[in-house]
Amino acid sequence: MAAELNIKENVIEKAYEHKINELINKMTIEEKVGQLTQIVPSLYGAFEEIITKLVEGEISYQEFQAMEKNYHKDDIREGILGSMGGVTGAEISNELQKIAIEESRLGIPILFGLDVIHGYKTIFPIPLAEACSWDIEWIEKTAEIAAKEASAAGIHWTYAPMVDISRDPRWGRVAEGAGEDTYLASVIAAARVKGFQGENLSEPDRILACAKHFAAYGAAVGGRDYNTVDMSLQTLHEVYLPPFEAAAKAGVATFMSAFNDLNGIPCTVNNYLLTDVLREQFGFKGFVVSDANSIAECVVHGNSVDRIEACKKALLAGLEMDMSHGTYQQDLPEQIKNGGIPEEVVDEAVRRVLRVKFHLGLFDHPYRTNKEMEDKTLLAPEHVEVAREMAQRSIVLLKNEDNILPLKKNLKKIAVIGPLADNKKEMLGTWAVTGDPEEVVTVLSGIKSVVNEYTEIAYLKGCEVTGDDGMDFNMAIQAANESDVIIAVVGENADMSGEASSRMDLNLPGRQEELLKALHSTGKPVVVVLINGRPLSIPWAAENVSAIVEAWQLGIQSGNAIADILFGDYNPSGKLVATFPYSVGQVPIYYNHPKTGRPASKIKFTSKYIDGPSEPLYPFGFGLSYTTFEYKNLVIGSSEVSKESKVTISVDVKNTGDRSGEETVQLYLSDVVASRVRPVKELKGFKKVGLKPGETNTICFEIEIRNLGFYNEAMEYIIEPGLFKVYIGPNSKEGLEGEFIVVDY
Ligand code: BGC
Repeated sequence: MAAELNIKENVIEKAYEHKINELINKMTIEEKVGQLTQIVPSLYGAFEEIITKLVEGEISYQEFQAMEKNYHKDDIREGILGSMGGVTGAEISNELQKIAIEESRLGIPILFGLDVIHGYKTIFPIPLAEACSWDIEWIEKTAEIAAKEASAAGIHWTYAPMVDISRDPRWGRVAEGAGEDTYLASVIAAARVKGFQGENLSEPDRILACAKHFAAYGAAVGGRDYNTVDMSLQTLHEVYLPPFEAAAKAGVATFMSAFNDLNGIPCTVNNYLLTDVLREQFGFKGFVVSDANSIAECVVHGNSVDRIEACKKALLAGLEMDMSHGTYQQDLPEQIKNGGIPEEVVDEAVRRVLRVKFHLGLFDHPYRTNKEMEDKTLLAPEHVEVAREMAQRSIVLLKNEDNILPLKKNLKKIAVIGPLADNKKEMLGTWAVTGDPEEVVTVLSGIKSVVNEYTEIAYLKGCEVTGDDGMDFNMAIQAANESDVIIAVVGENADMSGEASSRMDLNLPGRQEELLKALHSTGKPVVVVLINGRPLSIPWAAENVSAIVEAWQLGIQSGNAIADILFGDYNPSGKLVATFPYSVGQVPIYYNHPKTGRPASKIKFTSKYIDGPSEPLYPFGFGLSYTTFEYKNLVIGSSEVSKESKVTISVDVKNTGDRSGEETVQLYLSDVVASRVRPVKELKGFKKVGLKPGETNTICFEIEIRNLGFYNEAMEYIIEPGLFKVYIGPNSKEGLEGEFIVVDY
């Protein structure tokens, strides 16, 4: 049975409902609002200052953990706190839970939440990188391990997956999602939910997932975090909402509302999103949590006159839980008492929260872990092994001139240069605050562990990631001159992507490109390893260096996985899930854009730039392998297909090289003529296949025509008869073409 919160008419759930109603009947208004409240432990002292130091790495997470905190024990005792964020560790969470169970009047357990975004202690690749594996089972597996570790550390609920589509790499949070494509992101959203929640939420090693940020947060104007979003309802429903719906269908227990306003209404108080779409269209039965402090921020948006009005609007719109700043706790009880908010609305919100707690089994087993369990689960060797393989699968080979890669393990001398070559912390990426940089294998140590013992490695930093500091090209050039090959490890620091980390420039920051140019001028082959949290614009490197390995931020096993690729122990198979622009000025640039009446051509008056290419640097779906694949024999089951039917499409894929490899076969469709302008093409299926040298496999897709529709002007979902083009190949640009006609009978 899937862990669906879609409440079924079964005995256990009826029993829950009875207990929930009993509890609600006994609760005071303050206790009810308590269930709708989540706060984080506060630090004694200058909170903002300490958090900034933590984020900037001036104090470690361990030091932060050791600081004395106010865990709001009195509120727990009073029963006015239903959930806490940011509590980590079996001992402290059990201690707090004990207060709730034994000392509060009604003994309702606390729900502990945390951002477990790509692992808890075993940090996996950032979500964007994992998505590049197109490997759904592996994506589910890392979420499952994250759930195991987090639950062992006392956490019940992760604020993940982020399922926001984004077409704008300036937005720092692209690192947290699955890229620009709706279909792929929907498949991944469901996999991540299943990975966290499993089949049965009451298993002690499962945690609640949270589909965030509802909705369209990734479309912030200018790629600037928290910025306004204005889009047609058609685009919202066709492009941005399907991954949320996929998460809901997979049984996600919670949703988080987004910070932005959507067409003028902040998502926090957006009745259309939180009720019409989420409850009525998706049939979602779990609860919605606000983003941090976003209820109070409705006042700053200018949507509410004060926090009191914002609270009321949020609750009435369908937002059950207030995250982290106590707005509901302070401002709701009075309004309920004076009749400003009907008590039934509050009761229904409390019911939704309690239902989730029952589903999680918290009433029967409020202490799901202990110190011993925690110690044996975190960083278990089998978790670390998965981290290495997931990291291998996430890497995308962007360039490999003259097959310079894989490198031989017995080269005489290798120069490993660059500010990220021997770095631990930056490999963890964004949202890895529970990870320990000490666990990270750096690129340099990964390389050292695979090469022959006689191979000499010269390591130099060359420059810093940002700014002018520490520049020392001369020594780097000297080392490069004496080497057979240069491995240059460059990119972004971890805090350059993620929340509040929008960039207006997508080039390599600091003097890193200059460093690459200096290394290139030695005439020695340069292999660039990119460590970054977003697509970058790197046209000079793409044109000039010998090879580019897009390694993203791969987590604790970064160095091992990168060395496995560089020296051929793993054949790269990742494919981009976000378009790489040639220049930031092209943004937003994404493969599935609607057709223009004047597509770019040599003619002046067409859709292009006068000062650079209109094509991206690397298209969506692109990625090379150490072997080659040939696509042949595209077969389309029938030339005419009825609207209610399916079409089968197959292709033969052959490994024409001399190494085993994996290929992600991608199927794109395009609706040639429609009453609303449709995308040039859209991904509608993909399959990852492993092939030995010389081996051919026939890859089949079965496409339901009902999934090829769109929203018309009246916002009705329709499928219009007519011609559909088929593209099947290794990426969104290349491949075989065919067609079929959808008929109305
Ligand atoms: C972020 C969320 C996150 C929350 C709790 C917010 O600032 O937008 O994605 O889950 O903080 O840490």
